[in-house]
Amino acid sequence: MARKFTGGKLVIASHNPGKVREIGDLLAPFGADVISAGELGLPEPVEDGLTFIANAEIKARAAALASNLPALADDSGLAVDALGGEPGIYSARWAGPQKDFTVAMKKVEQALENKENRNAHFACALTLCWPDGHMESFEGQVHGAMVWPPRGDKGFGYDPTFVAEGMGISFAEMDPAAKHAISHRAEAFRKLVKACFL
Ligand code: IMP
Repeated sequence: MARKFTGGKLVIASHNPGKVREIGDLLAPFGADVISAGELGLPEPVEDGLTFIANAEIKARAAALASNLPALADDSGLAVDALGGEPGIYSARWAGPQKDFTVAMKKVEQALENKENRNAHFACALTLCWPDGHMESFEGQVHGAMVWPPRGDKGFGYDPTFVAEGMGISFAEMDPAAKHAISHRAEAFRKLVKACFL
């Protein structure tokens, strides 16, 4: 049996405004009083895990212990089949110190040059950690294909170059609600909510 979140303040262990916004939207129906690690001025821990779950656990644990509040962390990224799963856990780092995803999307496109297989998936790991160190972790994925040139101005990160299976438009062309209905983050959230919020 997973431990339940019983209400009150919940720290979103992220300094990425795109993620904080999406997680806030997804948690809105569950009455959590959400505050971000950025707003609390919490330091960003070193993400040296080798999997999405390991990194989500590092971030959630650091935020829960530093704030003495339950904390939720998301570690996610884009895995491209023809690149052996890269950029994967290094998805944010491919954008460089300026966090410029125009650069990151171009790097992926250049690496895919002359490759026919454009299949890829986004993966998302979510970890909820309590101040006593107890953790619950969940994972979701969405499969699709890389497109070029980038399309749309909604979303964040690699959204303009990813078209989910069965969709004619990129994640950055979809309304946020439509993306939330099918995304890797939404799938991980459905699992988290079922286990810890209901
Ligand atoms: P991290 O989880 O903060 O290490 O960063 C993961 C990176 O993966 C983000 O900065 C985005 O670039 C990318 N990413 C994760 N989820 C999404 C998404 O839903 N759309 C586009 N890019 C994403």
